[in-house]
Amino acid sequence: KTIYLKDYQVPEYLIDETSLTFELYEDHSLVHAQLVMRRNPEAGPGLPLLVLNGQNMELLSLRLDDRDLTAADYLLSPSELTVQPDSASFTLDSTVRIHPETNTALEGLYKSGTMFCTQCEAEGFRKITYYLDRPDVMSSFTTTVSADKQRYPVLLSNGNPIASGDGDNGRHWATWQDPFKKPAYLFALVAGDLWCVEDTFTTMSAREVALRIYVEPENIDKCQHAMDSLKKSMRWDEEVYGREYDLDIFMIVAVNDFNMGAMENKGLNIFNSSAVLAKAETATDAAHQRIEGILAHEYFHNWSGNRVTCRDWFQLSLKEGFTVFRDAEFSADMNSRTVKRIEDVAYLRTHQFAEDAGPMAHPVRPDSYMEISNFYTLTVYEKGAEVLRMIHTLLGAEAFRKGSDLYFERHDGQAVTCDDFIKAMEDASGVDLTQFKRWYSQAGTPRLDVREAYDAAAQTYTLTFKQSCPATPGQPEKQPFVIPVELGLLNAQGVELPLRLQGEAEALGTSRVLSLTEAEQSFTFVDIAEQPLPSLLRGFSAPVKLSFPYSRDQLMFLMQHDSDGFNRWEAGQQLAVQILQELIAQHQAGKALELDQRLIAALRTVLENDQLDQAMVAEMLSLPGEAYLAEISEVADVEAIHAAREFARKQIAAELFEPLWARYQENRAISRERAYVAEAAEFARRALQNIALSYLMESGKDEVLAACLEQFEQTDNMTERLHAMAVLVNSPFEAEKAASLAKFAEHFKDNPLVMDQWFSVQAGSPLPGGLARVQQLMQHPAFNLKNPNKVRALIGAFANQNLINFHAADGSGYRFLADQVIALDGFNPQIAARQLAPLTRWRKYDATRQALIQGELKRILASGELSADVYEVVSKSLN
Ligand code: ARG
Ligand code: ZN
Repeated sequence: KTIYLKDYQVPEYLIDETSLTFELYEDHSLVHAQLVMRRNPEAGPGLPLLVLNGQNMELLSLRLDDRDLTAADYLLSPSELTVQPDSASFTLDSTVRIHPETNTALEGLYKSGTMFCTQCEAEGFRKITYYLDRPDVMSSFTTTVSADKQRYPVLLSNGNPIASGDGDNGRHWATWQDPFKKPAYLFALVAGDLWCVEDTFTTMSAREVALRIYVEPENIDKCQHAMDSLKKSMRWDEEVYGREYDLDIFMIVAVNDFNMGAMENKGLNIFNSSAVLAKAETATDAAHQRIEGILAHEYFHNWSGNRVTCRDWFQLSLKEGFTVFRDAEFSADMNSRTVKRIEDVAYLRTHQFAEDAGPMAHPVRPDSYMEISNFYTLTVYEKGAEVLRMIHTLLGAEAFRKGSDLYFERHDGQAVTCDDFIKAMEDASGVDLTQFKRWYSQAGTPRLDVREAYDAAAQTYTLTFKQSCPATPGQPEKQPFVIPVELGLLNAQGVELPLRLQGEAEALGTSRVLSLTEAEQSFTFVDIAEQPLPSLLRGFSAPVKLSFPYSRDQLMFLMQHDSDGFNRWEAGQQLAVQILQELIAQHQAGKALELDQRLIAALRTVLENDQLDQAMVAEMLSLPGEAYLAEISEVADVEAIHAAREFARKQIAAELFEPLWARYQENRAISRERAYVAEAAEFARRALQNIALSYLMESGKDEVLAACLEQFEQTDNMTERLHAMAVLVNSPFEAEKAASLAKFAEHFKDNPLVMDQWFSVQAGSPLPGGLARVQQLMQHPAFNLKNPNKVRALIGAFANQNLINFHAADGSGYRFLADQVIALDGFNPQIAARQLAPLTRWRKYDATRQALIQGELKRILASGELSADVYEVVSKSLN
């Protein structure tokens, strides 16, 4: 069944107060709900039927005001409970029995290990009790939890604790009250044997907030980084957005079994343990940075999501796009701004662009869905954040802040739409965003083709921009977007020219934003004394595919001289793409591969520049990934892509051995002396050290192998150890590989998050025999198909990061993935549907592979009763 945005109607009834009592037992749980309700005055006159959502539960009793209802008084279906109210205000009491202990979908109330926890976004609350489970129904909540005291000493819910006590039979209870009205998707409950790390934060109005991170006892030593990140986030949101925390306590709980990264439940965030736990010995630099970003993301939702929430799920990007933009800016401020931008753009172009080009393509605000869980996508999150970034670029920081202040003030306590957000931005800035809003309604990645014309006599330079956007499902034609293009012009000395457009009295700086609004549009700069070189789309100012006919020499020039750090990196990437595409063509033509030496020269300059931030050096040394090369291909030839990229890597390693070795040794020496610190300068240093080691190992030299083994053994941190092991895993040194894998697994066998990394490294190895290795690893005692992190670490890593093995010509990779999806769908539909993503991209491959993938999709469709999640993705992919 498909739900449409255009069918939205306000709720017939509202819930003002919700009182819940949970009795948790080992073989079932009871939920008593008292809902104080009334007819929604905005919905019109009369008393229509009250239709409550509810699934997978047994109704034990129902009472309307003072009247016990019997089966004759209500209508029960597998997903709804219908009652006829007899007055405009009433109280509905229900008791249901549910089974969290057998809830493998990890949605609603479920058990992760020995603890009880919840995940209600988007529609999980309806598996807990009968309710109006939609985000525009906002209620206050009072929640009492009762459970065995010994097994579950800690009982948590949203808001502030107001009472607690002991009960009979070794049980105890606690009551929590959340004074802020919220939709049911922000409800949370936790019961378990948990320890916590405590701290406090003093807000800008000098209120003291208690901060607690709850974890299983063995993880109590891995919370400090998350706590530090939380405090930084709280301060940043005050300083940059003027947003203060509102309750007396803020809690985070880490759980091992979680479908996503984390969840922003009011005052009680629940996190995948992978998004909280970190210490030097067990978590990499990348994990530390990811944790900092997710902590910030969930914390920022307290305003962008909770205080102001979504009217309906089509508006999801209202909170997600905005909050991703906020967390990205936070990370940029905490670390290197340019490096953060590079990482985000590389990720967007590889994965979101692929989604936008595939059968599941949808606008940032979708028009329809079958299963909302399938729309927690790269488009809603990442492209949504790009849309916010463009607004920020077009309005400027100051007007943007005025707009966000107005938005929060105007809509505090409301459930609103993306239009309301835009309206606040317009009202605060005076900028008309009517055409800009097409970014919310049109899917697909726009192309932007740029031509130049220099007129030496008139001393003018004209750039002509032509935009277009490919058709996407349901949207054959597109209207022009508003595209902010930040640019600069460089002369032959690399000096940036003052930018004065025809008709302007004076130049406006050397870098400025042009706002494109038409399908084709020209801009003429005056007083240009010589043919300049343009630096276009600085900072990736819009999520488009830009093309300009740069020569390789021009790209090398920009790599050296562009004042925009992002575009220096981008020039290097474009140079590498051109050269790799040439190698791909040589491979396809059966010719000997020959690398354009300009790539070597460019990378040598980068390596020898000791003024450059080491993180930038590391980024510039990274060749575009195979998945990105596939995305930009007309037809992705995975074998040619892999061969070309490996060939280039080997050549770089051979030609640049000396400077790479110098950079490696210098940094490894520092790593050996210093204790691990999780901060930007050290992330940068280790990033360069590690990428240098990957190249060096291509040489096969003994001294490099010795260095790699030394780094693997003699380190205090996971960043060095894991990378050394990964490099060994991808090397031909079989004995050393086996020994290091065994040693690592023995040492970390009791740490599931570290074992996830051990699985991922092997699943991602491009060496022949990948599928067999993955199948064997599925038998490993640390593997468990029921745990989403394990599925992502092994099956996900294989299908997404091991293109050469996954796309094996015999279709074995596809068959394997389809088998796993069918198995997963039997108990966790959300995870099953997510693992399908690589199979939805079938149009990218050759005819044989297309047929093989389609065959597997059809096999899934015919495999029996499918969840709505998997059905939607498979059926749309085959369409
Ligand atoms: N709101 C959460 C976050 O982004 C994600 C929840 C996703 N839930 C889901 N069922 N897909 O922070
Ligand atoms: Zn979010």
